[in-house]
Amino acid sequence: MENQLAIVTGTGSGIGKAVAEKFLRLGCTAVLADRDADGLRKTAEELSAWKGRFSCLETDVTDAGSIGALAALARREKADSYVLANCAGVFRGGLLHEAAEEDYDLLFDVNVKGTCLMMKAVIPLMLEAGGGSIVNVASVSGIRGDYNAPLYCASKGAVISLTRAAALDYMEKGIRINCVSPSATATPMFLSGTGDEVMRAFKDALPDHKIGLPGQVADAVAFLASPEAAHICGHNLPVDGGLTAWNGQPRQDKDAE
Ligand SMILES: NC(=O)c1ccc[n+]([C@@H]2O[C@H](COP(=O)([O-])OP(=O)(O)OC[C@H]3O[C@@H](n4cnc5c(N)ncnc54)[C@H](O)[C@@H]3O)[C@@H](O)[C@H]2O)c1
Repeated sequence: MENQLAIVTGTGSGIGKAVAEKFLRLGCTAVLADRDADGLRKTAEELSAWKGRFSCLETDVTDAGSIGALAALARREKADSYVLANCAGVFRGGLLHEAAEEDYDLLFDVNVKGTCLMMKAVIPLMLEAGGGSIVNVASVSGIRGDYNAPLYCASKGAVISLTRAAALDYMEKGIRINCVSPSATATPMFLSGTGDEVMRAFKDALPDHKIGLPGQVADAVAFLASPEAAHICGHNLPVDGGLTAWNGQPRQDKDAE
């Protein structure tokens, strides 16, 4: 593979960590970013087999200054091509009429503004390099509604819309922008505070009856970033065990006439 640099956010945990590992396995160099310094350190230890091929930077994706330092680090790597995977994200649930304004601010700052700012900072590098690929992590919650999570759903719907519209503007310039939409995935975001009953309910609801794995999301991200996806642009790829294929109606078991 050419000297390709993968810039991955949210790498202190879950899906971002799996995406970073996937790109390293594929032979990329990588810049790993997260606001959680401890998480980043643990990830660096877990990925020590690729020591020397990646660097880590504590980064808050809601802060343009912090992102500027990340983009400067990426520029110093002098790669031939760039991939950006926006995996940093937060979840907060609750009914709309009870939600604190702070919940709205957090969800939109991290999930939407963070994704925008990262794209804004890395697109110039890609333009200079003659192209690149961006994959945003949205959610099935941005495609259809979840109970008790209207603000999270709205933020993820915005990520899908942002992906589609930005994809149009940059396709001619050689930058492909797509997103993936996971359903429940076995990371701290989903697993923490999820009891056995809720876990069973999720498995019952999913057509494949399985909670997704971070590595499965990483595989989809890597595919969309790869040359095999050269003609795929502005697409939202569900990684959801068939969940969004289902319209929500129960099975209609009729006796044969
Ligand atoms: N786990 C799921 O069930 C699921 C399902 C659908 C979509 N997603 C999305 O996948 C993405 C990754 O989530 P995950 O499941 O790995 O969650 P996670 O909580 O395990 O990891 C999220 C990471 O993002 C980092 N982060 C949060 N705010 C940040 C900020 N301001 N700047 C930099 N880093 C920040 C956290 O420190 C953490 O390391 C998120 O966008 C999430 O919404 C997750």
